[in-house]
Amino acid sequence: MSWVTKTLNSTLGRKLLMALTGLFLILFLVVHLAGNLQLLAGDGGEAFNIYAQGMAVNPLIRGVSIINFILILVHIVYAILLTQHNKKARPIEYAVTNPSANSSWASRNMGILGTVILIFLLVHLRGFWYRLKFGSPDKVNIDGVEYDNAFIIVEEAFKNPFYAGFYVLSMVFLAFHLYHGFGSAFQTIGLNHKKYSPLIKKVGIGFAILVPALFALIPIVLYIQSL
Ligand code: HEM
Repeated sequence: MSWVTKTLNSTLGRKLLMALTGLFLILFLVVHLAGNLQLLAGDGGEAFNIYAQGMAVNPLIRGVSIINFILILVHIVYAILLTQHNKKARPIEYAVTNPSANSSWASRNMGILGTVILIFLLVHLRGFWYRLKFGSPDKVNIDGVEYDNAFIIVEEAFKNPFYAGFYVLSMVFLAFHLYHGFGSAFQTIGLNHKKYSPLIKKVGIGFAILVPALFALIPIVLYIQSL
């Protein structure tokens, strides 16, 4: 067995992969959020449609998109492997536990949080990504150039209060997942420092609140505008 396979099969190696893929996905979220906030530009979707088409045709972004999907899969598979390993290591729960004193609710429920986010992701990709890539989206003419009307797909979807509500609720789960994931990833990659760890924790909390809140703002605003 090569050292790479050995490392990837060790608990530490698996944790490291979870941390690195998680940090990449965090980066993706920031870029995705910045792009999606253009949905709120109030320009009938012009900026968002130009941006979405630009992303879709750029070969570099297409490459990053494939890597992104692979990393999401790796993150999920290794989460399952680590959970199974932890269960095998301790098949019987401790007789006396005081979980709330030793760990946060989010850290003890990363599996549940991750599963809800996976369900969100499947619904999300089917609703937007699949329809854009494999459906036949309406076209819109902007300054003489024809674009896929990605904006209308999102706008129509968030007219439905249940769909918009599902997004907002999913962002609450994402917030808890990020809250634990952010700090845990930095700890795993060894950035555990007396001086910087409290700062990383604060940045993590801020990130875990701000990013899902801004994502949630999109369905809320688009739903209110549709009334
Ligand atoms: C209001 C919130 C959101 C909106 C309006 C939105 C919108 C979209 C749209 C229109 C697409 C298809 C076009 C494209 O590929 O850029 C897309 C793709 C995608 N979204 Fe979202 N998104 C939201 C939140 C999220 C969140 C929270 C996640 C992750 C937890 C996520 C993950 C993805 C992924 C993985 C893709 C496929 C990207 C790719 O092609 O590489 N999105 N989203």
